[in-house]
Amino acid sequence: MSYFIGIDTSTTATKALLIDPKGAVISVASNSYDYQTPHPLWSEQSPDLWSKGTFASIAQVVQQTGVDPQQVKGIGLTGQMHGLVLLDKNNQVLRPSILWNDQRTTAECDEIRQLFGKSQLISVTGNDALTGFTASKIMWVKHHEPDIYHQIAKILLPKDYVRFCLTGELTLDRAGGAGTQLFDLKARSWSADLINTLGIDPQWLPPTVEGTEATGGLTAEAAAKTGLLPNTTVYAGGGDQAASAVGTGAIAEGVVSLSLGTSGVIFATTDHPLIEPDGKLHAFCHAIPDKWHLMGVMLSAAGSLRWHHDTHAPDSDYDTFTRSCADIPAGSGGLIFLPYLTGERTPHPDPLARGAFIGLTVQHTQAHMTRAVMEGVAFGFRDIFELMQGMGLSNIRQVRVSGGGSKSPLWRQILADVLNTEIVTVNTAEGAAFGAALLAAIGHGHFSDPATAVEQTIQITGRTKPSTNATIYSNIYTIYRDLYPRLKTSFHRLSHLNHQQFSI
Ligand code: XUL
Repeated sequence: MSYFIGIDTSTTATKALLIDPKGAVISVASNSYDYQTPHPLWSEQSPDLWSKGTFASIAQVVQQTGVDPQQVKGIGLTGQMHGLVLLDKNNQVLRPSILWNDQRTTAECDEIRQLFGKSQLISVTGNDALTGFTASKIMWVKHHEPDIYHQIAKILLPKDYVRFCLTGELTLDRAGGAGTQLFDLKARSWSADLINTLGIDPQWLPPTVEGTEATGGLTAEAAAKTGLLPNTTVYAGGGDQAASAVGTGAIAEGVVSLSLGTSGVIFATTDHPLIEPDGKLHAFCHAIPDKWHLMGVMLSAAGSLRWHHDTHAPDSDYDTFTRSCADIPAGSGGLIFLPYLTGERTPHPDPLARGAFIGLTVQHTQAHMTRAVMEGVAFGFRDIFELMQGMGLSNIRQVRVSGGGSKSPLWRQILADVLNTEIVTVNTAEGAAFGAALLAAIGHGHFSDPATAVEQTIQITGRTKPSTNATIYSNIYTIYRDLYPRLKTSFHRLSHLNHQQFSI
């Protein structure tokens, strides 16, 4: 009997789950924490929270199930990507981790483009410089905290700091490595050229391995804290988006995953490294060996609907509120919503992009606005979808949805119509942590390969096919697509004025 554990070190909690030999989730435990915003645009977290959360969550799932520790054959890791963890020569943490959602490094992104050249950066790493990625965070420490910079001996990501606490090993998975923006995407290894240009010491960067490879065993101390046996194998795993794709079974070309959470992500597996020439889509290594993926990220997806509810109808029941627009015809009576409430990442990498209702008349009701918000988010996903299709992924036959917003049948229908593609739901709701447990089970040989693991554990539970509304939405989308370019200058001017004159 072989059991496996998946650990997800997210921005808000560390979660552990235990799967049985058939891949069914039999126990989940989660320990929450906060992140700090010591200055506007900053986002930091103490790595200590992740190790404590990991030890506690593993101990809880082991206790809850009473599983024989001998039968736990492996632990797979996943977590928030891009966060910078700095260790000194004694492997002590030098400062709080600078997280993926930290926005302080606009100047360092410009510096990286200038030093390496934007087009070369995109062609080597697959990505344009982004404040979220790790490289610009290292440059920021160099400029603003030179005392700390000079003590750096190792650089890790959040999940890999957890690995270090569990095993004492300093290793990174390649999906995470690609998210540092220091990786040669095609070679699946550090780019010596880029590292040299940025003046980064190659000794700081740990060796990298594929997501299903073993990365050492539990130390005696970690075993005592978790209730597992020393030397229980820890497998590499991957960043949360790649592990989530494994956890919903979107691991082959043609089947993409769409996550409709606070933010929105479309993730497409590719057999070759595909790079969007302007860096509008993220291109990273997959957690599945020798696969890559393209990804587009909307910053306010289900978050837009949550904002609309909390601002305009805070006392109404959330589900009733979202259902209230079911009778409004497709197109919301000519009302279009732009979902850039917290700026945008894909396809407009613009922190100053802003949300908008366009086309309001006295005929519009709150229900029209609700439907327009759902449609506007779906149009944002279509932007990402079209970018992917434009890169040759023309055969997208199925979209596997997850995240809180995907529980709404109405929103699933709107998505099927706007994307003109079948939307399916699957039986697994635990996302990245489940994917990490599967990666460990594949690494151990419990499943012969990723396709078998997915086939045996993930079932389709619902299908939504496009309706006749697809044509109406295709027409409205052409109007939606024109709006951001027309409004961009106004958004930027408003934002500058806002800084000078108004405060909300
Ligand atoms: C991916 C990304 C987020 C973080 C936090 O590029 O920034 O998914 O990994 O979840």
